[in-house]
Parts: sequence; structure tokens; C-alpha cells
Amino acid sequence: MLKNKKILLGITGGIAAYKAVDLASKLTKMGAEVKTIMTAHACEFVGPITFKSITHQPVITKMFNTNADIEHISLADWADIVVIAPATANIIGKTASGIADDLLSSTIMATTAPVLFVPAMNIHMYENPIVQENITKLSNFGYFFMEPQFGNLACGYEGKGRYPENEEIIFHIETYLNYKKELAGKNVLVTAGASREGIDPMRFISNYSSGKMGLALARAAHIRGAKVKFIHSSIRVNIPKYLDSIKAVSAEEMHRAVLKEYPNSDITFMTAAVADYTPAKPSKQKIKKSDDLNLELKRTKDILAELGGKKTKDQILVGFAAESENIKENALNKIKKKNLDFICANNLNVSGKDDTEILVLDKGKEIKLNGNKFSVAHQIIDTILNSTKK
Ligand code: CTP
Repeated sequence: MLKNKKILLGITGGIAAYKAVDLASKLTKMGAEVKTIMTAHACEFVGPITFKSITHQPVITKMFNTNADIEHISLADWADIVVIAPATANIIGKTASGIADDLLSSTIMATTAPVLFVPAMNIHMYENPIVQENITKLSNFGYFFMEPQFGNLACGYEGKGRYPENEEIIFHIETYLNYKKELAGKNVLVTAGASREGIDPMRFISNYSSGKMGLALARAAHIRGAKVKFIHSSIRVNIPKYLDSIKAVSAEEMHRAVLKEYPNSDITFMTAAVADYTPAKPSKQKIKKSDDLNLELKRTKDILAELGGKKTKDQILVGFAAESENIKENALNKIKKKNLDFICANNLNVSGKDDTEILVLDKGKEIKLNGNKFSVAHQIIDTILNSTKK
């Protein structure tokens, strides 16, 4: 998928610069044309000759080169995507402040191509509110960021700040290059996570849903240009700053939040694992242990069914069904019962993992999808867009 794509690699001065050599090599082997800009600090970590030998393309380190065109403009125009890996706090800060005082920062400023930052730095630097605010600001402007990984850092600390796997960076590059903004102008509502139903101030009933599939859908819809509203219960993933998120922990809170947002939503993905039952009389005080405890439960409102009842002809409603048996039959029943356009059925045996297997059904067809949740999310969106094309 990267054949003949023009990738401008920006290397800044962090120890992970040596890992970007392998990134340049992998991208080149995949058929991409990779040109490299290195900042002066990056050259302290790795030599420009290394990138030049691997990519067989120019490596530029200086702003003023009398033999060339105006370099920052020609490179900015040439690139299909600009990838800054590793991205230091400095380059993120400069871009966020509109500073263009060297070749790389000027090129970032001048390009209209997607720009992907791959931050890698000391954990305290990464968590510094100034860096976080800069990332939020740039994300809101449409710049893309990868999350650093957790692990041992070169500075001796353990924490979030590690340069991610190059395979993961390549996956992001493919995503940003290959998806158009087909959802521009659309409002997409995604719910995710496991609801928590309070028994007393200390205890609750919940389920194993991680929220990963919902988050993958929200991110995929965002990348494809949608305005995404992300309503989540308890989730085990970090929410990117660019998503407009609302926390709704219990089934009742989720019901309220979703019904409020639904009239504005063009496509709704009801990915959340909403509790079907909640304690009938939650206790205000912590329940003291005695012998047996009989917990009386009552049914929660079925949000999805209510949305199905209110659905207009222009709205698309997608339900999810986690099944442990008779997957297709159960899922088809839910389409009818809840007036859905699509249902994504998954086998409970694969839930919670990064990879998934999903059967997308509408009233007529069925499509089997599998792979990483992010890629499955794109495939779900593709399926919906293809079958709703008139
Ligand atoms: N859902 C909902 N409100 C609830 C419960 C579930 O909106 N109170 C939604 C989920 O977000 C999901 C779909 O309904 O999109 C799941 O359908 P459901 O029939 O509730 O599945 P199960 O809970 O697995 O039902 P069953 O026990 O009948 O299989």
C-alpha cells in the first residue's frame, strides 16, 4: 500500500533517532520514496549518511542550500505525508507556537500534507502539562500524534515515553495516507466501555468490556473526517485528546447522554457493553457483611432499542452483539428487534484483545472481518459506506 508514496521523514534530536533508521529502511523496502530532513541535534545521534545509504534519497540538514529550490517549500509540496519520528518536546513546542526557525519546522509549517508526530522522550517531559497542552493544541488543528509506549527509557526511568514499534508507525502512516475524508460533515456517535452499576458506595456490577473496539471506531471515524462524540463508561484505554468525550458510567447515565446526542448523529455505533440489570435498591451506605446477601436487580432501559424506535430515514444505527453461541442467528434477531441498519457480532472468546473477529450483518448480507481492532474499525466503516452508497 505504500508503493510510490512520498514520505518525508523528519528526524529530531532524541536517542530514538537510531530506531528511525529501521523505519526508513522498512518504508523504503515497501516501495515508498523516503526523503529525510534531520535537525542539527538529530545529526548528533545518527549520521545523515546512514539515512542516505538506506533510502537512496536526499537527506537534508540545512535550511540554506544555494544549489536547490526553496527547500522547505519544495519538500512540503512534494510529500504525501510528513512523519516526525522521533518527535522531541522541542519540535512539538515549536510547531505549536508557530516557530519556523529551521528546515524541519519551516517544512511542517508549509505543508498541506498530513503530519504525524511520533513523540519519544523522558516521561516527565512527556507528561509536562506544557507538552500535553501543545499536543492537544496541534491535535485540534488536525495534526496526528501517536502515543508513546510504556517501558524502560534511555534516561533510566520507566514510564510512558518510549518510541513505539516501527510496524505500528507504518500502520498509522498507511491509515493516514489511504483514507479519504469521506465522513467530513458527518456527526458520528460512538459509545464504549463497560457500565458500572452501583451496589453501594464501594461496590458495583460491571463486565469485561475494555472499550478498545469503540475507541478504534471513534479514531477511525475521526481520521476519516467525522465530528465524533465519544460517550464512554469504564474503559481500559486512553482517550485521545482530539475526541470530544463524555463520561457516562452507569446504564442510566449512558441512556441520558446518548439520547441527548442522538438527534444530531448521522451514524451511531452502540459499542458500549451496557448492563442489562442494575441493583433495584442501591445502598447509600456501605453494606456491612452479614450472612448471605440477596441482591435484587431490575432491568435497565434498552438504549439501542429506543434509538431504533426514534431513528429517522437519514440516520444509520449500528448495534453490537457479543455472543458466545449461535452468533449469526442471535445477531439477526437483534437487527429486527431493535430496528438496526447493521449489527456487528463478535465472539466473546476473542473480546478484550487487540485483535478481533467480527461478523457485520445487515438485513441481507454478511461480511466477516478480522484483524487489529483499528483496521477492523476501518473495515466496518467501509462496509457501511459501501452498502449505503446509492
Ligand atoms: N444495549 C443498550 N442498552 C442496554 C443493553 C444493551 O443499548 N441496556 C446495546 C449494546 O450497546 C449493544 C447491543 O445493545 O449494541 C447489545 O444487544 P443486547 O440485546 O443487549 O445484547 P445482550 O446484552 O448480549 O443481550 P442478550 O442477553 O439478549 O444476548
